[in-house]
Amino acid sequence: MTRTTRWHIAAALALLLLALLFGALAAFAYLLPSFSDALPFQQLRPAHVSAALFWIITGATAGVLHYKDDTFGYRSHVPLHAGFLGLWLATIVAVFMAYGLGRFGGREYWEFPPLLALPMLLAWLLLMAHYLLAWVRRSPDPPLYVWMWTTGIVFFLITFIEQNLWQLPWFRETYMREITVQWKSNGAMVGAWNQMIYGSALYIMTRISGDEGIARGPKAFLFWFLGLSNLMFNWGHHIYNAPTASWIRHLAYGISMAEWILFINIIRGFKAKLDENRRHKHLTAYRFLIAAEVWVFLNLFLALLMSIPAINRYTHGTHITVAHAMGATIGINTMILVGSICWMLRYDERASDQRWMERARKFTMASLLVFWIALIVAGILKGWRITALGIEDFQQVMQPVTQVLFVFAVAGIGILVGLGYIGIRLLCLCLKSPLSTSSGAPTPVTQSFNQ
Ligand code: HEM
Repeated sequence: MTRTTRWHIAAALALLLLALLFGALAAFAYLLPSFSDALPFQQLRPAHVSAALFWIITGATAGVLHYKDDTFGYRSHVPLHAGFLGLWLATIVAVFMAYGLGRFGGREYWEFPPLLALPMLLAWLLLMAHYLLAWVRRSPDPPLYVWMWTTGIVFFLITFIEQNLWQLPWFRETYMREITVQWKSNGAMVGAWNQMIYGSALYIMTRISGDEGIARGPKAFLFWFLGLSNLMFNWGHHIYNAPTASWIRHLAYGISMAEWILFINIIRGFKAKLDENRRHKHLTAYRFLIAAEVWVFLNLFLALLMSIPAINRYTHGTHITVAHAMGATIGINTMILVGSICWMLRYDERASDQRWMERARKFTMASLLVFWIALIVAGILKGWRITALGIEDFQQVMQPVTQVLFVFAVAGIGILVGLGYIGIRLLCLCLKSPLSTSSGAPTPVTQSFNQ
């Protein structure tokens, strides 16, 4: 592993810790007005959401850039990687400074002054150059995870540019045009980082099982294609409430429903994994991947319900949307990324606190379940009181909802403690001592896992 990769992983973990801290503070700032006077929710929310998104993107790219060395058998120019990391992190620091000074100006999830999108774009181009220099040396029939990494990296560029189109006056001419492009690009961008993250999960699974076959063959590619079409079209459910052409909504609905096929396949794969589970259950990386699988189940079910227009009408903009967003980013993305970092740092070989790590994982999972259910209950209560009971006064609507949100905030502290332990532990391991591999490739699986 190169020194740049170590700093890349360390930066991702620091962002995770920051996201947890800001999230917990934001929850209490929302619920306790006295708390909010000192630390306003309007400032904490964007800081939390940006830290969370930066954690996911930084963690995802750390994995892709590290695993590609092993996959392509070639380590491309480290200065390009270092250039990306330096520019990317300097921009992130500038984003938090802007939030601290109360300077916003961007759009949802990316609320920093829009000028900062420029160095971010430049950093991404450096990352692409670094990746593509190795990618051109791929084998003629690369495994599926290479397709996933490449589409993820390219689509991130496309959706990032699309996300910034509002900076052109034509897109701001009508509010509806601007919001439609915003919601659309945010939905598709999630698909882009999912490709990178799921690609890395697949890479690790092939290494754990020693079976490259799961990343090859028509069935694997069919599911990749389904994921890709979801990336390109499933954003339709983000814009149900916008008055767009009805064929767009119908197409998006059809595509979202096609995900049921994926869902059924996951159930079957899950059952088949029971045997694998017995063989690999002592591996920390594997445990985190399995944790993510449970959350794929829960979130897909919620997302599919939310994709039904009749239900979406009521759930849009309530806490159910927040449950969907955090269920996916914590339960799926974060769990896979933590597993991937355990794998890159060779946690099982180098650490001796596996028992505490497992306790922290279970504690995080239990807290997240309470957190997620509390948000759904808060969303149902809010939607029901507004639409079915027709209550118009916001204070009155929120009275019982606030009590449920206290449960959410307390469970959030549980996530802070559990994931915080995991993040700090991995950060210490990352900074402790250099990993001695000459090729930059992780240790062969058989050495570390046939215990
Ligand atoms: C790795 C951990 C986390 C990630 C990746 C994450 C991600 C996110 C995302 C993407 C959103 C935006 C949701 C939306 O607008 O629909 C959000 C909002 C929020 N998160 Fe987190 N989150 C994390 C941990 C936490 C924790 C531990 C808390 C503590 C209670 C928390 C509290 C909040 C709050 C209060 C909001 C704003 C909700 C609103 O505006 O209604 N988050 N988070």
